Amino acid sequence: MKRILIAASVFVGIAVSSAAFAKDEMMHHDHQHQMHMADTRISLGLPEEMKQHQLSNMREHMEAIKSIVGLISENKLEDASKIAHARLGLTADMQAMCNMFDNKDFKALGLAFHKSGDDLGAALKTRNVNASLRALNKTMQYCVECHATYRQ
Ligand code: HEC
Repeated sequence: MKRILIAASVFVGIAVSSAAFAKDEMMHHDHQHQMHMADTRISLGLPEEMKQHQLSNMREHMEAIKSIVGLISENKLEDASKIAHARLGLTADMQAMCNMFDNKDFKALGLAFHKSGDDLGAALKTRNVNASLRALNKTMQYCVECHATYRQ
């Protein structure tokens, strides 16, 4: 009798814990599903080779921002200005890159972003730290706005 009771309680234990596991799994799937559904950003429909190119460009933008912040902290505003123009500004390369996109609004946002990179370069050149930080904030607002609106 004691054996049967132990066997029965082990069985019930297994049944309860596997039911709990199944519920966890379902919640996990639901959650993933919701996150997927929640991505309402506009897709640019990029082909694979453009995707990689865009992401590596983006990582360079990130690095440029990091270098600029570091140089401002070291009071090397002229070096920061050069990086802003060369890496974030509206160079011929960046203009060509932005013009490759079919989505007109995305293109316009990209061009405005790079124009703000040149404004940042100009602000840094004046060696006014507050004005430079305001310009950096404006440039980074474009990063935030575009990422909130578009995906590859
Ligand atoms: C005009 C639009 C636009 C602007 C402006 C923009 N990005 Fe992006 N960025 C994108 C898109 C689109 C992606 C891909 C996002 C996706 O598909 O989820 C991306 C992806 C990235 C990634 C991910 C890279 C990877 O390897 O996965 C980083 C980092 C990034 N951007 C940094 C920046 C920074 C920093 C700025 C501003 C200095 C910036 N971006 C400005 C459109 C933009």
